[in-house]
This record gives sequence, C-alpha cells and structure tokens, in this order.
Amino acid sequence: MDNKTVYLNGQYLPLDEAKISVMDRGFLFGDGIYEVIPSYSGLLFHFSEHMKRLENSLSSIRLVNPHDRAQWLAILTPLLDTSLDQSIYLQITRGVAATRDHAFPANVTPTVFAMCSNIAPFANLDSGVKAISIDDSRWELCNVKATTLLANILLRQQAVEKGCAEAILVKDGYVTEGAASNIFAVIDGILITPPIGHEILPGITRDVILEIARQNNIPYSEDIIALDALKTASEIWLTSSTREIVPVVQLDNEIIANGKPGPVWKTMNRLFQAYKQSSHE
Ligand code: PDD
Repeated sequence: MDNKTVYLNGQYLPLDEAKISVMDRGFLFGDGIYEVIPSYSGLLFHFSEHMKRLENSLSSIRLVNPHDRAQWLAILTPLLDTSLDQSIYLQITRGVAATRDHAFPANVTPTVFAMCSNIAPFANLDSGVKAISIDDSRWELCNVKATTLLANILLRQQAVEKGCAEAILVKDGYVTEGAASNIFAVIDGILITPPIGHEILPGITRDVILEIARQNNIPYSEDIIALDALKTASEIWLTSSTREIVPVVQLDNEIIANGKPGPVWKTMNRLFQAYKQSSHE
C-alpha cells in the first residue's frame, strides 16, 4: 500500500497510522460531510467554490466549520504534489461520542480528515462510456455532500455489474444526476442540465461548464430533462471533479447518436482542459 501522508485532527501522518475511534459518528452513522477538490500543478481548482459548498454542507447538518478558508488552505496545501494532477478528499464528521445515540452529543470536537490522490485519466474517454438509467432511491438532501452514500454506492454498483461506468438516476420520469456525477445532454442543439435544487449536488464542474458555455456562446439551459427526452439526445455527458467530462455513448440498450463522443463534447472538453490549466483560485 502507498503509505502516503494524510491529515487527521491537526497532524500529518502516514496513512497506516491514521486511526479514528469506532465511536466516531462518521463510522457509526455516516454523520459527516465531505468535499473533493481537484488540484492542477499544486493549485486547488475553484477553491472558494468548494469551500462555499463545504460551508453549506456543514450548516445543513448543523456543524460549525472548524476552520476558516485560510486555515483550510494551510492544512491542505502540504498534501499536494505540485507536479501532478490530484484531488483532495476532505471529510468532517460530528466526532467521537461516549455512547451510540442518534441525537447529537454535547461538546464533541469534529473529526477532520484529508488525503490526496492522483487523478488518473478516466478510461475510454475517446470511445465514451455506457450508462444505465435507474430509479433515484436517495433522500431529499442530495444537495448536501454527505458521507452517507449507501444509496449512491448501491446504484453505482448496479451500473458496474452491467458493464457501465455510471448509473443515471431518474425521479418521477425526470433525470436528476449520476450516482457520483452531474448530467448534461445536448437536445435539439442546446446543452441542458437539470437545475440546482435539493435533488442534485451542485457540482463545481457543472458550474465551470456552464460558465465556459456562456463565455463561448454555446447555447445552454438549466432545465428539467425527461428520461424519454434524454434517450433522443445527440449527446450525454457526466461531469465530476475526478472524471471531468465523460461522454456517454450508450444508455441502457440504446446507442446515443452514432455511438461516438459528439462534437459539442469535443469542443467543451478542449475548452475545459485549457481552462483548468489557466484558471485557478
Ligand atoms: N462526487 N453529483 C454527485 C452525487 C457527486 O457525488 C458528484 C461528485 C457530483 C459532481 O460534483 P463536482 O463536479 O463538484 O465534483 C455530482 C465526488 C467526485 C465523489 O463523491 O468522489
């Protein structure tokens, strides 16, 4: 195992020495939130937006942010390798309680953990990936980046077992997002993604793509997408901090357009690659 350095509760230490109590509420209840922040050439990408989402997630679960943004930057930066494309995984749980009780414990210090991984280029980018559509069985706080991911992993696993890269989730006939990604479709020449709300995570990659579309006069709209409409799309993409923009060429048993990544994806991916190398905060 790569015994890299990680951060746990104020200390930098080798991964195999980073230990938490079995009474940690993250372990017992999934009572915590997380962030995944990409880093290009040692600079955290859209750091302020990730911090803003972290703050929203924390306040949604009624946890006080243990650090300000400058402190977070100081904590995370030593984990980065400036020569690589990486991502920081950052998790905060409600902490270690004396007894297992669903109600919040009093006077508990949150557990803070961070580690860094290399971003491996996602396979099959040139040929695209397959996805399945599946009922969105998650809860009503999908806008919170909660570590409570049992529904997401069960949904993703069903996709994997069908040889697919992602599960596209459908609620009441409308597409929400992927199990760990946001969704875009090109329908009648317009780039469409479902609007922000409690049914999806407000993806930072999603925001960057909308901004790039705006700057480059690519027609776009934040609108609901029926599963039936998705099946008529000329392009479908899945987006996330770790996979970036992945073209989907097959949904369930249907081939999308000609079964190859489409022209809008090619343009957007080129613009995104240029943007991520030049635009940091
Ligand atoms: N997941 N929707 C869900 C449910 C996600 O889990 C993610 C990312 C996204 C995309 O968000 P962003 O563009 O900010 O990465 C949307 C991360 C990568 C993860 O859980 O590892």
